[in-house]
Amino acid sequence: MDTSYEIGLGNDDRLLRKRASDDYVKFWEEQAQNLQWFAKWDSPLEWNPPFARWFVNGKLNASYNAIDVIAQKNPGKTAILWENENGQTRSLTYGEMLVYVCKVANALKLLGVAKGDRVTVYLPMIPELVVTLLACSRIGAIHTVIFSGFSSQSIRDRVVDSESKVIITADGGFRRGEVVPLKKAVDEAIFGLEFVEHVLVYRHANLEVNFGKKDRLWEDLLEKAPEHCPAEEMESTHPLYILYTSGTTGKPKGVLHGTGGYLVHLYSTFKWIFDIRDDDIYFCTADIGWVTGHSYVVYGPLMHGATQVLYEGALVFPTPGRLWDLVEKYGVTILYTTPTALRMFMKYGDLIPNSHNLSSLRLLGTVGEPINPEVWRWYFNVIGKGRCPIVDTWWQTETGGTMISPVPGVETIPLKPGSAARQLPGIHVAVVDENGNDVPPETKGYLVVKTPWPGMLLTLWGDDDKYRTVYWSKYKNMYYPGDYAIRDKDGYFWMLGRADDVLKVAGHRLGTAEIESGFVLHKSVAEAAVCGIPHEVKGEAIIAFLVLKEGVMPDKKLREELILHIRKVVGPIATPDKLYIVSKLPKTRSGKIMRRLLKSVANNDKIGDVSTLEDEGAVDEVRSAFAELDKAVHGDGVR
Ligand code: WTA
Repeated sequence: MDTSYEIGLGNDDRLLRKRASDDYVKFWEEQAQNLQWFAKWDSPLEWNPPFARWFVNGKLNASYNAIDVIAQKNPGKTAILWENENGQTRSLTYGEMLVYVCKVANALKLLGVAKGDRVTVYLPMIPELVVTLLACSRIGAIHTVIFSGFSSQSIRDRVVDSESKVIITADGGFRRGEVVPLKKAVDEAIFGLEFVEHVLVYRHANLEVNFGKKDRLWEDLLEKAPEHCPAEEMESTHPLYILYTSGTTGKPKGVLHGTGGYLVHLYSTFKWIFDIRDDDIYFCTADIGWVTGHSYVVYGPLMHGATQVLYEGALVFPTPGRLWDLVEKYGVTILYTTPTALRMFMKYGDLIPNSHNLSSLRLLGTVGEPINPEVWRWYFNVIGKGRCPIVDTWWQTETGGTMISPVPGVETIPLKPGSAARQLPGIHVAVVDENGNDVPPETKGYLVVKTPWPGMLLTLWGDDDKYRTVYWSKYKNMYYPGDYAIRDKDGYFWMLGRADDVLKVAGHRLGTAEIESGFVLHKSVAEAAVCGIPHEVKGEAIIAFLVLKEGVMPDKKLREELILHIRKVVGPIATPDKLYIVSKLPKTRSGKIMRRLLKSVANNDKIGDVSTLEDEGAVDEVRSAFAELDKAVHGDGVR
């Protein structure tokens, strides 16, 4: 094994792995003691496959563990160092956060929010976003955050599914020199939705907004809210949040996370992976609209009393050196970002990071998509100057926290560029074949999780059946994440991307189905098919094939309109890189679009692939549809 990347932080807790493999339930129970509980659990795990309930009848509060615990010991410790792309700054201590969280929690109560109610949050990356989530969990309300790169129709779908009675938003947020009009999108999204009682609006971007009868100003309401709010004692399996995520079919699914197990998973993994210390300055660049932000910006770091940088805006705005400016300015010690961001920085060249003082860094992390070995090496050498271990962390919205990653807080092992290393203590992942049998080392297969883990989703919001079919029907009693992987002879995992129709575009998770249904909402579109193809920076790019309704002319104006349309209904993150207008799509006999054919056309594969489809489709039809696609993509077809 290449040991040149054997770089660690001097920790070597072999007993931890041993305890974890001896009895994983007991091990997690031991980890749970690190949290503050109002009442101890009766049973560490009730496992009725596929439903896991951790620390049953234990009582705790997420906001209490994230804020009060530190605020009581060290109220003056800085929690958040906020900055946005315009250079505005703010900082908040744990003591200040506690007061702020309590006031917002009381404000929510004034709006009639009670235990179990859902609150939709559509805010930019500002301290109020963190505070709002903690205010919800303080009173037992279930938060459901929507990433600000999604727009009105996506918001509407999520608000309807979760039946949120309150929505919290801002006038706007900053992104690449522009103001994103958030309140306006919410207004469109909730038009006619009677069950939405209030919209709470934080003024941030100085943007004119409509003010209707449901709207309440944040500052007005907070003025009336008392500064003290006791943390509700919540049962461990009480839902903490819903986070919508894309799957292979239909609309995004509401992944439902509980409280006790989820927090135990985050407390432990944050410590093991980031080896957090009191004087660290931690910076995770993920947006709180995605799971990484929930787990490793909000709950994980705060439970450890970490000081962290929170940044609103694009990492390369106003200059390509923006991220490195921040690292230097705040003396960031731990940087956690995405392969897409790294590929982008790499393209800008070494001169920019080299002209910054990055000597404060001691640990680097990546998340969200496979990292190419050459990008890993660049991160290691140019950013970490060969001194900092890289933690490549594999996990999902559904897993709640990291499952596979190096753990410098536990042990020092040789790192391999491009591999997420080993499963975490207490986690059992494997690579299996179609029948669920373990494959030999160095063989590609499907990743599975063999035992329940504390951060595991409770279910899909309101849809236990779908939860069963999506994750637990491919294999009996094994969780199926939908990823391909290889485990090498040293037991290291190499993640090979999705085995399904989920896309990872610039690290953002999107479903082909949701983009397709967005397109067919347009009056000129009869059918739509979307696939992803490899992209040098973004990892994957979206390619759309559209069939227009009879008599519609595929002119330039329509194409522009279609792009605007998809940005409006799904969001700017769903913008296709290429949009082809064709007269038919290749389908199976039962009428299903042959997406892998689209992929092979877009990827320049040969038409020969069609011959393998004899059983599936009417071959002549498929051939002619294929020829047409091929012409659109490579020939002089209409683009
Ligand atoms: C992919 C993001 C390779 C994977 C935390 C997974 C990764 C999906 C990695 C979940 C990684 C995440 N290496 N692939 N380190 N981390 N993925 O729900 O395909 O947005 O299934 O959660 O991202 O995406 P999600």
